[in-house]
Amino acid sequence: MNQDIKESLNQNDQRYHAFWIFAVLLLFLFLPFSTLTLEQAEATDSGQPEMPLGLKSSAFHIPADNPMTSEKVALGRFLFFDKRLSKDNRIACATCHIPVLAFTDGQPVSTGINRQQGGRSAPTALNRAFTKRQFWDGRAATLEAQSVGPLSNPIEHGFTDNAAMVAKLNRIQGYQKLFTDVFGKKITVDTVGQAIATFQRTLLSGNSPLDRFEHGKDTNAISDAAKRGLKLFRGKARCGICHSGFNFSDENFHNLGVGWGHESLDVGRYNVTKKQTDIGSFKTPTLREIEHTAPYMHDGSLATLGDVIAFYNDGGINNPFLSPFIVPLKLTATEKKDLLTFLKMLSGEGWQHIKAPETFPQ
Ligand code: HEC
Ligand code: HEC
Repeated sequence: MNQDIKESLNQNDQRYHAFWIFAVLLLFLFLPFSTLTLEQAEATDSGQPEMPLGLKSSAFHIPADNPMTSEKVALGRFLFFDKRLSKDNRIACATCHIPVLAFTDGQPVSTGINRQQGGRSAPTALNRAFTKRQFWDGRAATLEAQSVGPLSNPIEHGFTDNAAMVAKLNRIQGYQKLFTDVFGKKITVDTVGQAIATFQRTLLSGNSPLDRFEHGKDTNAISDAAKRGLKLFRGKARCGICHSGFNFSDENFHNLGVGWGHESLDVGRYNVTKKQTDIGSFKTPTLREIEHTAPYMHDGSLATLGDVIAFYNDGGINNPFLSPFIVPLKLTATEKKDLLTFLKMLSGEGWQHIKAPETFPQ
């Protein structure tokens, strides 16, 4: 063998050794990480959705007695879309919380069983995991309680009581099996609420142009008009006083005068607290996806976002309990336009992938 070839073989040998030493080192270096990734993989199977940009995971509330699993989310999804979960097989949660309308129904007030109408507009079911008090008047303290409320409402799903709803579900074998698999026990009103609430926790909206502008450091994510609108929102137009924080709600109750002067007044929060100062107060709603959730306010009385801005510009509707934060704003035509442009920057993602199941448990 000639000397050159011998040397190169030797070198190759050395490289070969070096490669293996390096490889083993790498293996040791990454071994702890790879087991960690496995654990994380199991953690993501917990059914918890990925948090879109701008939402605060520390505020994402999962009750200790209702941990999320992907099986529970799947069961809750069936229940949310299943019309058999009503007295006449015609109404599901999704009848009034329609996915493509950002989980609202596009109506001033909702129509339930036997075409009966309530006095309130269906709010979005998005980002409910971040709120403690549900409904316009905050009467449900948990999403679990909220999730069974509509079922025995005589003008929504129309069951006489929760027992009637549970009895009907119990007649569907597929559900019996799913509840046993997920909860290790029979169908009860509590487990129905837990499953639906768990599904609702996966309905998120974040990563809007505003989130990319504020948290993604993308200075071009919103136009100059929207930037002026943002400044108005947090300044002269006073919106940010109540529509505050990452979910654009202070989670509090205020009287804007909406519905005042109508024959029958919806007293709102007063029903819950019986405090005079709460007469006509309603929960500050999130403004995420606001572009998709017309008409607006608890009674759906304002058709467009332009109407909403005009309403606030006039100082709401005067009444003895009007919030002191609601005053005439004296916005110019351009300011109104900029504010409107800004409100459209709150449309994001985290919900568009959610669709009705094609088949249901039988
Ligand atoms: C007939 C239409 C209708 C049906 C069916 C219906 N909802 Fe609603 N939903 C409404 C209306 C109207 C409100 C507001 C009621 C109130 O605040 O008093 C509401 C409120 C809510 C809220 C509160 C949102 C917030 O901002 O506080 C959530 C969440 C919700 N519904 C989820 C559901 C679920 C889950 C179901 C099925 C079990 C369901 N809805 C069935 C019309 C409906
Ligand atoms: C005093 C607190 C407060 C201030 C200030 C305020 N809002 Fe509101 N906002 C609320 C409350 C409470 C509601 C629900 C009222 C009702 O239906 O009776 C609401 C409802 C809305 C709605 C309808 C949401 C829906 O889902 O129907 C929009 C849009 C809105 N506000 C935008 C704004 C804008 C824009 C401004 C600034 C010009 C503003 N708000 C200022 C508290 C406030």
